[in-house]
Amino acid sequence: MLIRTPDDIPPSEITPPDVYRERRRFMQSLGGLALGAALGAPAAGAQSLPGVRRGAMTLDEAQTPYRDVTTYNNFYEFGTGKADPARYAGSLKTRPWTVAIEGAVKKPGVFDIDTLLKLAPLEERVYRMRCVEGWSMVIPWVGYPLNALIRQVEPTGNARYVEFHTLHDPAQMPGQRARVLDWPYVEGLRLDEAMHPLTLLAVGLYGEVLPRQNGAPVRLVVPWKYGFKSAKSIVRIRFVEKQPITAWMAAAPREYGFYSNVNPNVDHPRWSQARERRIGEFRKRDTLMFNGYGEQVASLYRGMDLKTYF
Ligand code: MTE
Repeated sequence: MLIRTPDDIPPSEITPPDVYRERRRFMQSLGGLALGAALGAPAAGAQSLPGVRRGAMTLDEAQTPYRDVTTYNNFYEFGTGKADPARYAGSLKTRPWTVAIEGAVKKPGVFDIDTLLKLAPLEERVYRMRCVEGWSMVIPWVGYPLNALIRQVEPTGNARYVEFHTLHDPAQMPGQRARVLDWPYVEGLRLDEAMHPLTLLAVGLYGEVLPRQNGAPVRLVVPWKYGFKSAKSIVRIRFVEKQPITAWMAAAPREYGFYSNVNPNVDHPRWSQARERRIGEFRKRDTLMFNGYGEQVASLYRGMDLKTYF
């Protein structure tokens, strides 16, 4: 990401706030304050999503506490600090909300978010997420495979890639008043990646409606790629023939390739990607190829040199 730390210190080397919080929590629990449980659960007043079933390919791994998932975020539309999205995303209006389907499809159109929510059964999928900055989380998302929507709109033979556009509205997204990125935030996938059953259109987490700071009302979740591929607050999905230039590729082409698969063997030009800090843990762990989803996705890249197509 665009890091403003002295001498290119990778962000994972700086003790993040969650580690301080974890220490403080530990001290508090020693003092008899039973805060841990409260911090792990969704906030009172969050709106729960009914009828969510357990999805496939869901992990049985310790989940990152709700509080960390919703207060340690990257959402540059609300500022570049990790706490900024939780602090400032209140100005985002998530209703009415529409998602336009455009380009090489037989059935283009505009979906109202509440129609989109009912397009397929909602599933809970616990996924590992790895940010390019060197931290990771385990998040119980709620959503359904993006392929349910793609099938509905029937891509034509010219559809080889899919673009995802975030809302562009500086009145609601104060971070867009600064030219940190060339807004709107645009991300992209190859059509087969977008069709992969792991790729989710997410509308919630921890059984609740997606908090604004996590990309309400609808975002992408692509667990085998660095977190920035998972575009938030999507208003447009466009099917195209040519590989899109994403917002991060435009900002720093040497640092952010189109594929951006989690790959411990390809360093970011300014830091190693070999290890990561799971939010809430002290010791770093080894980063896994394709974020541990190799069995499911490696075949998508057979024959490709992943150092060239990073
Ligand atoms: N989407 C938009 N529109 N703007 C962003 O700045 N940040 C990305 C991604 N999606 C980002 C975005 C990055 S770098 C990461 S790591 C994830 O969102 C973080 O998602 P989370 O805050 O829900 O954990």
